Amino acid sequence: MTLLREFALYFAQMDRQPYLRLNFGADTSKGRITVEQIVSVIRAQIVGRTAVAGLRLPPVRVLAHQLHVSKNTVQAAYEELKSQGLVESRNRLGLYITPPKAIQKPLSSWKIPFPEFRNIGPLEASARSRRGGINLSSVFIDPDLLPKEKIASCFRSVLTSPGLSFYSDYQGYRPLREKIAERLRKRGISAEADHIVTTIGSQQALDLTFRMLEQPKIATENPAYHLAKVLLEMNDAEMVGLPLDPFTGAPLAKWEELFRKHRPKLVYLTSNFQNPTGYSYTTQEIQQILELSERYGFAILEDDWGSDMMSFSEFRPCMRAIGGPNVLYVNSFTKKVLPSFRLGYLLANENSVETLVNAKRVSAFGMPAVIEATLFEFLDRGYYDSHLKQLHAELDERYRHALDLLRTLMPPEVRWTTPGGGPVLWVEVPERVRLSVIQERLKAKNITLAVKLSAFFGEPHLHGFMLGYAFLKPKELETGLERLAAEIRLELETR
Ligand SMILES: Cc1ncc(COP(=O)(O)O)c(C=O)c1O
Repeated sequence: MTLLREFALYFAQMDRQPYLRLNFGADTSKGRITVEQIVSVIRAQIVGRTAVAGLRLPPVRVLAHQLHVSKNTVQAAYEELKSQGLVESRNRLGLYITPPKAIQKPLSSWKIPFPEFRNIGPLEASARSRRGGINLSSVFIDPDLLPKEKIASCFRSVLTSPGLSFYSDYQGYRPLREKIAERLRKRGISAEADHIVTTIGSQQALDLTFRMLEQPKIATENPAYHLAKVLLEMNDAEMVGLPLDPFTGAPLAKWEELFRKHRPKLVYLTSNFQNPTGYSYTTQEIQQILELSERYGFAILEDDWGSDMMSFSEFRPCMRAIGGPNVLYVNSFTKKVLPSFRLGYLLANENSVETLVNAKRVSAFGMPAVIEATLFEFLDRGYYDSHLKQLHAELDERYRHALDLLRTLMPPEVRWTTPGGGPVLWVEVPERVRLSVIQERLKAKNITLAVKLSAFFGEPHLHGFMLGYAFLKPKELETGLERLAAEIRLELETR
């Protein structure tokens, strides 16, 4: 029995069943088709074929249209097939091909091979908020701080404007690319719309870059942004972990040793609020990394997702601004505007842009143009700038609140970083505190704390976690940190 037959059984359980698609071939394409020809073609297609048993013949009007004959001709052919016992009518549902006596194979006994997928291991649970719970590990911003009404207004305006293009621009909606380039230039980055490729979040920008590498030999921070690490694993990349300490920064002498030894082709770094350490590189570190790039011949992919989350960030130079157009630069509006918009971008250069646009075209054709046009409108009306101003003030307030709470609540052995604002910082606890135990205990109280062990290459050199304060309301942060501090104290007292 074939799959078609199985479909017949399957569709037999539905209200409306599909009908058989019949091809009539060249002999019926010329001249007037006779009743006999129709009968003989259908007969030939069903006699002795269990495959089609149980399926419906095309409705008379459908076949009459297909063959360009009168309904009477088809009706007459169907009557003939009926009288030959090849089809039977079922109430008013149509004509069905008479099932033979053959034994029907039950659905459960099919053994169709399933595609063999590679196993990328379980991903860490998403740190989005659980309903009613408190999430101490989110890199997202409190949805109440996002400009949903303004986005909606831009969206409405786009949907009611007559000018939307029928096709997506593979590279990205041109007016949006112009706007992004203009913004980047204000930050001291020389950027042109021609070199910008819009992407589905910065995640797709990473995906396209990693996939298009001739030699996927990549160094990144240890601990790494874990979804980039998995992405690299999916691409069978050879990886080198560059140790990073959120308290002391990048040990560049150690990094140089690793570059000398492993000769990576690309170094992927997050310049602001590295995930998970929350570390932002100093200007001096950036300069030294650029020097190492020249010396050891590696390209740089800069992930700048965090820069717009901090006040006065427009004055902080990034790798692309200092290192010039060969530094591949990634950024995104997702966290700051609306995560579900999924709008990010790559700033490439004239040598690489075509390859990246082609990769994007092959993978997704393009971005949804209405989303791109909405974001353009949002930027063009000046909403993004006014939103960032308010957002920075709010995040600064939450940052100060987080530091106050940590100072008041945490035992003296606990340390944390002071990134100066933004969404996250790093909390380091003494070795004897069992993080997995704390995580479980908090989970029982509906508090999420993500301990990202898989972000490390090998044995972790840090013993702590990222704390997100942009996502939580002040009261939630207070409750979450009180419970967290109580659990840490318990661990310290009992071990
Ligand atoms: C460092 C870093 N880069 C990139 C991303 C991807 O973000 P998006 O695709 O939403 O722009 C994230 C997400 O959290 C991140 O933490």
